[in-house]
Amino acid sequence: MIRKCSRVAVIGAGPAAAIATDALVKEQAFDTIRVFERKGIAGGTWVYGSEHSPKIPSLRALLEHNADQPVLIPASFPSETDRSESINSHQLRYSDTGIHQYLHSNLPPQTMCFTKEPIPEILSERTLAQYGSNAPFRHREVIRGWVEDIFVRGGTLELIEFNTTVERAEKKGHEWILTLRKETPGSKKNYWWQEVFDALVVATGHFSLPYVPSIPGLAEYDEKYPGSIKHSKHFRSVDEFRGKLEYCILRINFQKVIIVGGSVSAFDALHEIRLVAQHPVISSLKEPIPAFGWGAFTHPHVAIKPPIARFHQDGRIDFCDGSSVERVDIVLFATGYDYSFPFLPEHVFDIEDQTLAFIGMVSGGLTFRVFEWQAVAVARLLAARARLPVRHLMQRWELARLASRGDEVQFFDISSDFEEYFEGLRRFAGEPAAGSIGRTLPKYDPKWKDAFLEVVVKARLQWWDQERRKAEEQIRVLEDRRKADKDSGSHMVRDDIKAQKMMDLYQITADMDRNKTFYKMQKFTADGLFLAVHWAALRANPEIYAYRFDVPSPFECDFKDQPHHSLDNVFIWGLLKELLPPHQ
Ligand SMILES: Cc1cc2nc3c(=O)[nH]c(=O)nc-3n(C[C@H](O)[C@H](O)[C@H](O)COP(=O)(O)OP(=O)(O)OC[C@H]3O[C@@H](n4cnc5c(N)ncnc54)[C@H](O)[C@@H]3O)c2cc1C
Ligand SMILES: NC(=O)c1ccc[n+]([C@@H]2O[C@H](COP(=O)([O-])OP(=O)(O)OC[C@H]3O[C@@H](n4cnc5c(N)ncnc54)[C@H](OP(=O)(O)O)[C@@H]3O)[C@@H](O)[C@H]2O)c1
Repeated sequence: MIRKCSRVAVIGAGPAAAIATDALVKEQAFDTIRVFERKGIAGGTWVYGSEHSPKIPSLRALLEHNADQPVLIPASFPSETDRSESINSHQLRYSDTGIHQYLHSNLPPQTMCFTKEPIPEILSERTLAQYGSNAPFRHREVIRGWVEDIFVRGGTLELIEFNTTVERAEKKGHEWILTLRKETPGSKKNYWWQEVFDALVVATGHFSLPYVPSIPGLAEYDEKYPGSIKHSKHFRSVDEFRGKLEYCILRINFQKVIIVGGSVSAFDALHEIRLVAQHPVISSLKEPIPAFGWGAFTHPHVAIKPPIARFHQDGRIDFCDGSSVERVDIVLFATGYDYSFPFLPEHVFDIEDQTLAFIGMVSGGLTFRVFEWQAVAVARLLAARARLPVRHLMQRWELARLASRGDEVQFFDISSDFEEYFEGLRRFAGEPAAGSIGRTLPKYDPKWKDAFLEVVVKARLQWWDQERRKAEEQIRVLEDRRKADKDSGSHMVRDDIKAQKMMDLYQITADMDRNKTFYKMQKFTADGLFLAVHWAALRANPEIYAYRFDVPSPFECDFKDQPHHSLDNVFIWGLLKELLPPHQ
């Protein structure tokens, strides 16, 4: 049985660390509890970091699985070193989070929360509009604030040492020696020191290091076309996927995008990016995750392809079914994450060392609840109030699981045995010690899992279905109009050839200076002859096109039968405003 620990360190200040710290404190059995968080605030994954320019520092290193390496640490402590790229770069250290501007939680709040810490009933405007007032989704900042609040309400915020990275954790004898590095904002130095603990609780998450599948030609393609390979971790907003304006802002080249993956990040990105990218957006996947099925991928502006087989130097990309596409602008890998613990020397993964605990490393859903069950079990174990099975039984369990599930992500997936997992931990933790305020775990409730399927999956499937039907209707309306125009001999502007014709007519060329461009544009819009703009707007938003521009010109001019109106000009410029480069 484990000796009672009195000094416990927690690494991280995300949801798993929040509940672990709370459970440890409430156990009332430890003299020292310290929490180390490399960011400046609590919230973990839910801290949105738009300020760092998001990109993969080295795709080759990711593909070769040597990206998130331990850093060089000083020989003596305490000490100060200069800041350096290899130690302080957020990108090289993978310390940025992988959430985007529009991210909302994707579990019912009643299931996602901890037992005694409800998630606030705050709905974003976007959620309200999309899913109505019963929507289960909460904006990322609501979740981040809720995590921080757990520290605040539990009085544990002061236990956190912020801006502090655990750079090494070594077991020496019965003690854990942590090597810590503080990076005070604004300072040019790293401050290093060591602290000693009896036990270590690792709650560092497992969504920091992107996983990118190794595909022939991918590394070379990335080098030849820099910036065209991205990972969903770095997806922040659709801005990067918008069309690029060429020919003096009159022509928009919509970006050709492939999104790889069949899980949540993939369909999240897909349904944002299809609004601004070239149609169809290509979705390359094996199978969608079973809970959601194909619902996200049947949109008419999405083309489904199997996984990518090869990247070619001339830009061509082959898929596993033998089909190919010519060069695309962006390939977004929404292919998940790898586990990474660069601060732990590998030999510590010993089933016998009960002073090392991991919280939050499982997958398969009901995430936060699982963290709570694990946290309470760990607190009881470290307080020597619970006892693990003997070593050979644990090893037998591990070998059996390895044999049935392998050593990859399936090993950590508990979705098929939620009840067994939750109840096993609850039995292990037992009741709080008499006289303590330790947390009590309720019995597993099958409704938690059902709520996910009945509330979240249903809401999302309905939304995708609605979007699909809307797009199909738009396509039908456009087709009908096109046909009607053709039959009537009308010359409605519908394609880029006509847009180019307009540019020729106005002698607008790519090499014109800004003033001249402005003058031409002014004349162009003053004339109300905005065919190219019109085409761009039509392409960007057919729905608005149908509503706004179906107004034949009342004026006598060469373009008499073109739909235009001064109000439309105002509207068009409003629409294009977002697409214009900053200097225009
Ligand atoms: C895009 C995205 C969306 C998600 N949406 C949901 C959702 O809707 N619902 C859900 O239940 N789950 C969701 N998840 C899963 C997510 O991982 C959990 O929500 C949760 O944040 C995990 O909590 P955690 O505390 O284990 O890890 P994290 O939240 O990742 O927190 C780990 C913390 O450890 C810190 N850290 C790491 N290494 C060190 C170190 N060496 N020293 C000091 N500090 C360190 C990090 O800075 C971080 O603050 C999502 C994940 C992603 C990537
Ligand atoms: N709150 C939200 O809305 C939100 C948004 C995004 C993410 N998340 C969460 O973040 C976590 C990570 O999600 P994730 O979607 O990033 O990762 P993920 O769930 O691990 O999914 C990775 C996907 O990539 C696929 N894939 C891997 N290699 C591939 C290849 N070579 N070709 C095609 N597809 C390939 C996988 O397919 P196989 O499994 O078949 O290999 C899987 O579909 C999850 O917990 C998720 O719930 C939440």
